[in-house]
Amino acid sequence: MLDELKQMRQEAIDKLEVLSEAADLDAWRLAFLGRKGRLTAALRSIGALPKEERPLAGQLANEIRVALEAAFEQRATELRSRALAESLQRDALDVHLPGRPQNLGALHVSTQTLREIYDIFRYLGFEILRSGEVEDDMTNFQLLNFPPHHPARDMQDTFFTTTPDVLLRTHTSPGQIHAMRKHHPEPFRALLPGKCYRYEQVTMRSEYMFHQVEGIAVGHNITMGDLKGVVTEFARMMFGADRKMRFRPSYFPFTEPSAEADMDCILCNGEGCALCKYTGWLEIMGCGMVHPNVLRNGGYDPTEFSGFAFGMGPERIAMLKHGITDIRHFFSGDVRFLQQFA
Ligand code: DAH
Repeated sequence: MLDELKQMRQEAIDKLEVLSEAADLDAWRLAFLGRKGRLTAALRSIGALPKEERPLAGQLANEIRVALEAAFEQRATELRSRALAESLQRDALDVHLPGRPQNLGALHVSTQTLREIYDIFRYLGFEILRSGEVEDDMTNFQLLNFPPHHPARDMQDTFFTTTPDVLLRTHTSPGQIHAMRKHHPEPFRALLPGKCYRYEQVTMRSEYMFHQVEGIAVGHNITMGDLKGVVTEFARMMFGADRKMRFRPSYFPFTEPSAEADMDCILCNGEGCALCKYTGWLEIMGCGMVHPNVLRNGGYDPTEFSGFAFGMGPERIAMLKHGITDIRHFFSGDVRFLQQFA
């Protein structure tokens, strides 16, 4: 019996040594230490031994149990740590690889320019108002003193909708009517930015969708001098304190008199270059004194009130400021262009 026990111990230890997988451990434990295992069977058979052999055999069997349990724990620890080391190796992340950079978004160059313009006009006391991009013929044209069939409508080729008299605004000037109707009979100064649409051939100088920023001031004593002062201050804040302005007579149905505001060329300082087409001047906006009919359409009595208005294209302002030569870049969605302003 004692020899059998010793032999079993040796066999158990040998088998434990050659186990190679943590998963085989349970099978070994059941075979030797389990309730139906060989050690348990041996312990049971001790009862059948002659009385004088029992103590020795019992003692040995207990020693073997303690030894096998300890050997089992040790082997289990070895196998588990080997399995862990293997899986760490197999699933290792190479932390030396640089992470993939996240592309950060940035404000569109038109938005940046618009916000610069807002800041300047807020400083000059203008509130910022918005109105819809879908207008009716009445507000986009007629109330601005463009009668039906007036040839000035040809200045702005129009996208019409399938609903009669409903169109995409061709300019932000209808905002003048909305602003006056909101404020009358009080004096006010408002900036009216937004998108405009024209049914035009797309070229490096014209897009079918673009922004405009309209301005209007209405009060009791507003003169052309106020207009020139505000526009000049804007040009200097936007393009540099030394800018010189000139106002050239022009025509718009909704202003009288009307003017184009020119700024001395920012590239050649008025000497003449390709940018200013050798004139020394860059046109930055249209402007004028609000036409009496337009004042009246906004609810103001032109014998009591006067006002000035102006309208500019922020894409054009951005092109001058950043030396962009083709307006089609703005809305083509080419990130190589957009990233230059991030
Ligand atoms: N609405 C004109 C256009 O789109 C721009 C303009 C000119 C606006 C003169 C004005 C103005 O307010 O006074 O061409």
